[in-house]
Amino acid sequence: MCAVDKTAIGFLGLGAYVPERVLTNYDLEQMVDTSNDWIVTRTGIRERRICAPGEGAVAIATESARRALEDAKLAVDDIDLIICCTFTSETLCPSAACQVQRNLGATRPIPAFDLAAACSGFIYGCSVAASFIRSGVYRRVLVIGVDAISKFIDWSDRNTCVLFADGGGAAVLGQVEEGHGLLGQSLGADGSGADAIRLLSSGVADPFSATAMNGHRSTITMNGHDVFKFATRILGTAVEEALADAGQGLKAADLDLIIPHQANVRIIESAAKKLKLPMDRFVINIDKFGNTSAGTVPLAMNDARQDGRLKPGTLFAVVAFGGGLTYAASIWRW
Ligand code: ACO
Repeated sequence: MCAVDKTAIGFLGLGAYVPERVLTNYDLEQMVDTSNDWIVTRTGIRERRICAPGEGAVAIATESARRALEDAKLAVDDIDLIICCTFTSETLCPSAACQVQRNLGATRPIPAFDLAAACSGFIYGCSVAASFIRSGVYRRVLVIGVDAISKFIDWSDRNTCVLFADGGGAAVLGQVEEGHGLLGQSLGADGSGADAIRLLSSGVADPFSATAMNGHRSTITMNGHDVFKFATRILGTAVEEALADAGQGLKAADLDLIIPHQANVRIIESAAKKLKLPMDRFVINIDKFGNTSAGTVPLAMNDARQDGRLKPGTLFAVVAFGGGLTYAASIWRW
């Protein structure tokens, strides 16, 4: 077992998957008191993907993982650890990660577990993966960021149903050429904001009462204003902290690309202002996919790679915030 250099841990492959069914703002106009104009101007979202009946986080995770392995030209048995970052799996036990391992046809007992850090999950997961690789415990780790939030939405609550959606992505992490890979990171959580976004799974807090059964306890509730305030403060700060961790005198202006969590385009605009960067430095696909929580960052990375913005040598930051309240940013050279 030999430790590898911090800067030499990077992405060997990427993949993403979204369900086929498209739900547009115009569809939502028929369901709740909202309008396409309000949703576009207040959030930047035009349409989102929603799981078909029988489809869920595990199916999205499995297909994303399959694509990431194909991109890395690796088989599942080449992987030493599977981390599935999600809070919307169909089951708390078994974990989504174990089901993905089975679905991919692993013939080795590859360790697998879920990681719950809401929308920051994928960046937390990459950090855990990098630690295992750096310490020499594992060589290649499959990290999946996925959420199927449509399963936990109250479709009569316009505060949440216009924002969230289903989708995900996956990455294989391992050793890369020196000078590439992970350069710095900042992970954090502010538990004092724990009540700002909540999903009380199926009345677990009070399982035997009638109110628990009938009181929308299995759908997401959110204080949008509190989350918005936290997000606009933390996105820029997290990137600055990760840049400081990277050292080498790196500044925001050196970043070729910022791949942020896609929760609200106004939150991204405020981060751009704080970092004094033009908006064209940010990857934005919220218009097509809405907020897929742990899925947004790998989905946006995959989009950026496909349209040629993320390529060998690109210096980029990923950054997210979410329920918890959690936040995470990391700096990489592709
Ligand atoms: N359609 C139409 N009107 C609406 C809607 C809607 N869907 N929702 C609210 N409104 C109305 C309000 O009632 C209000 O009307 P009023 O002025 O007559 O009182 C008006 O629009 C403005 O409402 P605000 O809540 O002030 O709207 P705001 O501009 O703050 O946007 C939003 C709300 C989009 C929720 C914003 O606060 C936000 O993006 N917050 C962050 C949410 C977020 O990022 N969540 C994800 C966390 S990630 C995770 O871990 C799962």
